[in-house]
Amino acid sequence: MTGRGAAITTTGLRKVFPKRRPAENWMDAMPQLVKGLAGRQDRKVALDGVDLKIEDGELFGLIGANGAGKTTLIKILACLMRPDGGTATVAGYDIHTQRMMAKASSSVLKGGGWTGVLWMRTVSQNLRFQGEMSGLAPALIERRSAEVLELLDLTDKADEVPWYLSAGQRHKLTVALLFMVRTPVVLMDEPTVHLDPNVAQTVRRFIKETVNTKRGQTVLMSTHYLQEAELMCDRVAIIDQGRLLACDSPSRLKRSVYDGSIVEIRADRCTEPGLEALKAIHGVTQVRARLQDAALGRQSIRIYGGNGLNPMAGALEVLGAAGAEVKWAKSAEPSLEEVYLKLVGREIN
Ligand SMILES: Nc1ncnc2c1ncn2[C@@H]1O[C@H](COP(=O)(O)OP(=O)(O)O)[C@@H](O)[C@H]1O
Ligand SMILES: [Mg+2]
Repeated sequence: MTGRGAAITTTGLRKVFPKRRPAENWMDAMPQLVKGLAGRQDRKVALDGVDLKIEDGELFGLIGANGAGKTTLIKILACLMRPDGGTATVAGYDIHTQRMMAKASSSVLKGGGWTGVLWMRTVSQNLRFQGEMSGLAPALIERRSAEVLELLDLTDKADEVPWYLSAGQRHKLTVALLFMVRTPVVLMDEPTVHLDPNVAQTVRRFIKETVNTKRGQTVLMSTHYLQEAELMCDRVAIIDQGRLLACDSPSRLKRSVYDGSIVEIRADRCTEPGLEALKAIHGVTQVRARLQDAALGRQSIRIYGGNGLNPMAGALEVLGAAGAEVKWAKSAEPSLEEVYLKLVGREIN
């Protein structure tokens, strides 16, 4: 849509914040203040040399735990904050030298659904105001409002004010506001966080089908829901402590970290010795079990076989001998969670 190749590039992007600790009392605050004035404050590196290239039309996911640097990266690309080092382009415009154009090239969804709405104006007045501020013709404003209200299941809320909407409905309104103007790039910071499953699903479908596929807008969304990233995104980048650890399509990332076979089993009456015996099967490299129902002793188990070994037969035999009742067993793919675990060294949540 931009006709300029990459929709977003970043080169050596770096951001450092002063570490702020709340002072317990004014005596405590003094040393911090003096340190600050002397330029000796503790620092937190939020982005540590991020190189990224997102192609035109991609739906790209930025995956990271709390504090990984996702919001900082999005704020810099949205020109809401300046980096301390490196540079970036949005729709081909440099964020330093062509800042106005870079800023105008993206729409931003900030978290929470609390900002950017007129509280005592109705939902449709909010949409109209957004359109008018962007200089759209009245007929186009009407058409886009009606369309987006329908798509986000908000039509019956058109005449209500945001103050009295539920959190999910208010969030959908902030998503709807993005639809009024068609920028080449859309930046979304955790677009489905804290939403109930129905609203999250509506928002996901809207992003993928309408914003990305139908309108052709390039989307960069951050998330810490790995399944969401896996289902929605063409490519993802994993960010931890301000560094990009990997960047590829979910399927290639999964293949790159694990080439053995995985078996998934649901079994009742699973005992500790039974699980231990699984680990002892020849060729098994790892066993991960999650208790699903304590009363039934129901476990959901993933067993990893290395060196071309399929652990299915051995696992069924071991569980049977330990008195467990296998409900089902199947071969499984590695998940993005396993990719994350391998690269970052801990689980995301
Ligand atoms: N305005 C700020 N002042 C000081 N530290 C900040 C500020 N914004 C973010 N940070 C710190 O930078 C790091 C990255 O934050 P952030 O980009 O918000 O992460 P994420 O969005 O992935 O949770 C965190 O350690 C956070 O505490
Ligand atoms: Mg954040």
